[in-house]
This record gives sequence, structure tokens and C-alpha cells, in this order.
Amino acid sequence: MIQLYRYGKPFETDTILQKPEVRPEGTLPYFKTEKDGRSFSCPLKAETAVYGLGETVRGINKRGWLYVSNCTDEPAHTEGKHSLYAAHNFLLIADAHSFGVFFDYPGELTFDIGYTDLNMLRVSAREPADMDVYLVEGDGPEDIVRQFRGLIGRSYIAPKWAFGYGQSRWSYYTADEVREVVRRHRENHIPLDSVYLDIDYMERYKDFTVNRETFPDFPGFVQEMKKQKIHLVPIIDAGVKIENGYDVYEEGIKNGYFCKKEDGTPFVGAVWPGKAHFPDFLDARAREWFGGKYKCLLDQGIDGFWNDMNEPAIFYSEDRLNRAFAEIKKLEGRNLDVKKYNDLLGLINDLSNNPEDYASFYHVCNGKRVRHDRVHNLYGYHMTRAAGEAFEKLEPEKRILMFSRSSCIGMHRYGGVWTGDNRSWWSHLLMEIQMMPSLNMCGFLYAGADIGGFGDDATADLLLRWIAFGLFTPLMRNHATLGTREQEVYRFPEALPAFRNLIRIRYALLPYLYSEYMKAALRDGMYFKPLAFVYPDDPDAIHVQDQLMIGDELMIAPVYVQNAAGRSVYLPEPMKLVRMRSPKDFSEENLEKGHHYLPVPLDETIFFIRADRCIPLSEAGESVEEIDFGSLALLGNVQTKAVYQYYSDDGYGKDYDNPSHYATITMDREENVTAEGKMPLRLAVFAHH
Ligand code: GLC
Repeated sequence: MIQLYRYGKPFETDTILQKPEVRPEGTLPYFKTEKDGRSFSCPLKAETAVYGLGETVRGINKRGWLYVSNCTDEPAHTEGKHSLYAAHNFLLIADAHSFGVFFDYPGELTFDIGYTDLNMLRVSAREPADMDVYLVEGDGPEDIVRQFRGLIGRSYIAPKWAFGYGQSRWSYYTADEVREVVRRHRENHIPLDSVYLDIDYMERYKDFTVNRETFPDFPGFVQEMKKQKIHLVPIIDAGVKIENGYDVYEEGIKNGYFCKKEDGTPFVGAVWPGKAHFPDFLDARAREWFGGKYKCLLDQGIDGFWNDMNEPAIFYSEDRLNRAFAEIKKLEGRNLDVKKYNDLLGLINDLSNNPEDYASFYHVCNGKRVRHDRVHNLYGYHMTRAAGEAFEKLEPEKRILMFSRSSCIGMHRYGGVWTGDNRSWWSHLLMEIQMMPSLNMCGFLYAGADIGGFGDDATADLLLRWIAFGLFTPLMRNHATLGTREQEVYRFPEALPAFRNLIRIRYALLPYLYSEYMKAALRDGMYFKPLAFVYPDDPDAIHVQDQLMIGDELMIAPVYVQNAAGRSVYLPEPMKLVRMRSPKDFSEENLEKGHHYLPVPLDETIFFIRADRCIPLSEAGESVEEIDFGSLALLGNVQTKAVYQYYSDDGYGKDYDNPSHYATITMDREENVTAEGKMPLRLAVFAHH
């Protein structure tokens, strides 16, 4: 059951398309609405867990920290941070009586979850809050999430090829560099489906242009890659370069599509190309215009994009930079004592992503002017919405890959997310493990982090462990920033066979992983779940923060500690441990419920199959296209009978709900396997070769 409580006159965020009736009277149950008119507080019992908030730092259970929904270009995701790139205002408060609550509010919102007071949850807005608050009650955490997801609408569905392995770097500067990346993967038989083009493919960082010197004959190159079963995925940035003669800039100016300052002139902020304007994505006209621009790349054969810098990130505003230079001039030639020296540093450090700048420009939404900081968290959403709405018109029959850095709930209908500029740190591998179920609760199913870490230098062991986990994430992309050690897997020759095998395991598991992703998307379910959602009555399961359930069949327990020979794993029920070294080399072991210490060599990934469940695997291929989703080998843990509902479609079109995409697969104790459904399937038992 979902109830809507309205405070004041909320801004229309377009997050919830079909709203329930507003409760005519009364205030939000479970919470005390404070007199300041902008905070809600709720006592927490010792045993209560708080889930949700999507892309945030810290554990699966969010208790014990202060989180601020304020989309931020934050390059250092340390534990002490309060905000990352996203604002996912959904909480699930879980104990004997669980409920969910969603704050539909586009401005800054603080979630003090046992930070000020260990036993108190307090949600507060910076200003007296006009907001819609949705209360979701149901039959336990999974049901509550399902209802919430029903409220916010079906999650974005990525094309099947985007479940393959992707390689990225800032930047592969030329077509030849990209060819080399592809060649090295193919000659080493490392599966690969996509290569990402970072900002340098553009002509001087201008959106929707391609540098003709480094990528001559771009459409020809896209086709050449397609022949090798590689999809090129270019980046699109929020800021539009100010340059006479550049059509995007000129059209934006002519039609008033950019965000404006108080005085009505377009706001100038700098990003990659230097000075830029920011499209007013909250204005439906500007959205339609910007979305239409993706066409030029679609027309050249591109079928996927990543939207970036859409918090929006601002290196400096023109006005602030001018003021800083004036102040710096005053300091020139003086003896800078500690205070003056700090002033100097402050002038520089305060230039980027400055809150005052975010309060200095405006949007026009449904004919009304609104100051940016009051709706800040909607910007990335509406940029991606611009693209998504355009794709619906331009390519109505085809799935286009789209994921974004900044997001809020609502955007999940138009794209997935990657979790931004992490580092090659072991703690960031754990952070990704913990973020995934939280993102799923908030509707973001197509998600993943930069495998191997974006900043800093990766080592082979980190990358092996990261891939051993990343092979389960829907978005599986290795990405690194400029200046760091090259981290394509072939840069580590000593570990190459292990990398090849682990990535091949991803492809072998794809029939299962894709099927679970699709079912989660089509039924408002979760792909990754905390153990507590599946075993709510098991007190040990509730405390597990570093294992995840995938679909209804699997549990994973990734290793995320350097030089650990293995890890402790908690089994909430007897399960079958599968150790995989390659799709052809694996071993199985039945384990009892309880705590186990399991050695996990660097070249293995482990997973657990629940009792009376089975999963379908394929013969791995070197691209998704090569995988035969109709020829399945089943791996099960069967005492009596395992029934698996398999989903498979062409992966490119949008005929999602056709019942012929489902088959019911059964495996009995003697390992007889049968299938029912319209889909022609060849079944076997997964076996050693
Ligand atoms: C941002 C993105 C990163 C990208 C870089 C250059 O930092 O988060 O992924 O590589 O910009 O475009």
C-alpha cells in the first residue's frame, strides 16, 4: 500500500508519473514532523536496519552516517564524504514491521541516520520543504521494494550486447588506438563487446562532433568495429562549448535553451572545453532539442552513450574566476603568512562546483523560473531523459545503451548508472559490492563501477578480484583515468590466462544473469539483494554486509581484501559451493548452513547455488552475439526438484512482455532436465569437459 503525504506546494519533478490520491489530512506516520517544517524524525530500535539511498558511501545497512542528497562531482569517494553524484531519496526501514519512504524533493536533503543520535533517523531539507512524501507498506522488504518500483515505473532495459565486457580509458585518442585495444583482446581470446570513447574523440570537447584527424571516416570505423562485434560507446558531456560557428552553441543561444543568470544572460561555467553553457534540461523544449542531437551519432552507426559531468560539474564560473584573479593580484608580491596562503589556496579551491554558483542560475520549467540549487538533483536525470525521449522517437524499435554519472530516481526509466570516479583501492571494490543492492532498490538495475578503479594505479591482483565480482554486475566495464597505469587485462601478461577465464565465465553465465536482469526489470524486482531481504528471520543473515544474493538462485561472496587467501562466508541455508576457474574447469561442494572459511585463489570466482535451484549456462563466446542462448547447460543443487523460469529474447528489440520469452526449466534429482514453453531449447547438464 502506498500513501502520499503532501507538504506545501511541491515542485513537479516528473519522478512519479501516476500519483496516488494525496492523503487529505494527517502527517506522515512513524515520523514526527518537526516544527521547523523541514524535518522528519523517526526513532530507530536497536534491531532496525535502514536500507536504500542508492549510490552512497558505506554499508548496505546505512545506519551510522550522515548522507546528503546533493549531486556532486566528487572524485574522492572516501568514507567521510556525505554526497556522491546521485540523489536517491528512498529509504527502507526494516525490522519486524518494515516500511519504505520516498522523499520526492529536488533540492538538498540530509539523511541523518544515527549520526547525531545513534537511535534516531532525521531527514531534513535545507529550506522549508515543499515536498511529496510516499509511504510504502507491505509484506517485508522485497514486497516493499516491488511496490515502490511499481510506483516509479519500469527500469531502463539495456541491449543484450551491453552485458558483454567493455574496455574504456580516458582516452583512446585515435581510431588506431581503439583498433589496437580490440586486436589485443581478440588475439588473446579475451571476450569483448564494447570500447568506450572518452572526451578526446570529440573535436575540442564539443558534444556531437568527432575529431576528423584522429577518427577519419567515423561511420566507416563504426562499421569496421561492428564487423568485429564491437560497439563503440561515445561520451556526451552536459556543458556546451561557447564557440561561434558551432551549431549546438548557436542554436542554443538563438532559441534560449541554456540556463540563465538573474539578469537573463546565459550562465557561463567552464568544463573540458573551457567556457560553456548548460542546456536547461528542465525546459521541455530544450530537452527535445538536445535529445535530437544524439541523432547525428546514431546516424553514424552508434548505438550506445554515456552521459557525464551532469551534476552538473563546473570547473569555475566566469564571474567567480574574474573575482579570484582580482583577489590573487592583491596578494601578489606580499609575504603570505599562513592565513594569506590559505586564502590564496581557498580562492583556487573554491572555484569548482561552488554552491554559490549553483544558486546563481535559473531554469524555466513549465513556464516558471526556478533557481538551480532548488532543483539541482534533477539535472542529470533530465539530461538523460532528453536522450531517452529522443531515442523513443528516433529508434522506437531498438534498445540504445545509455548510462549516466549523475542521477536521481526517475532517471532509472531512461538509463543506468556507473558510479563515477572511484580509485584502484580495495575499499572501493567493497564499496561497489555494497552499493549494488541499494541502487537496485532505487530502480537502477543496469549499473556497475569502473572495474579496476578509475583513479590511481591498478595491480593484477586487484583487477582479478574486481573482475571476479564484476562479472556479476550488469554493466561490466574496465575504465581508468589518464596518467594512471594502463589496466587493460592484457597489460598483465602473467595473469592473462586467469583474466581470460574469468571474463569467459561472465559469458558462460550470461543466460542466467541476463534472464535475472530482465525478470527484475519486468517485475520491479531486484537483481542484487541483501541477504536480509531473502532471509529476514535469520539474525546472522541480517548482519551480512559483504555478500549478495543474485536473483532467486545464487549467492556471491567476493574477496575484496588484498593478499587474503580467501574469506569467511555465511550460509543462511545449505548451499552448493561452485568454484569456477573457467567455464570448463570447476568444482562443486555441498556446504552446511553456517559460517565457513573458504580459500579462494586469485584465478577463481566462487558462487553458491541455493537448495533446489538450478541455473542455465552457455558455451562461452568472445562476444554476446556468439552466445547461443538456446543451448543451455544446467548447473543445479537439487535434492528433490529445481524449477527455473528462464527469460530470453533477442536482446535488441522492445517486445519485452511477450510470453514466448519465458520457458520453465526443470531439473530433477537424477539430473534429468526438461523445458516447457514456446522457445526451442537444447538442454544438457553442465559438466566438466
Ligand atoms: C569524468 C568521468 C570519467 C571520464 C572523465 C573524462 O571524470 O567520470 O569517467 O573518464 O570525466 O571524460
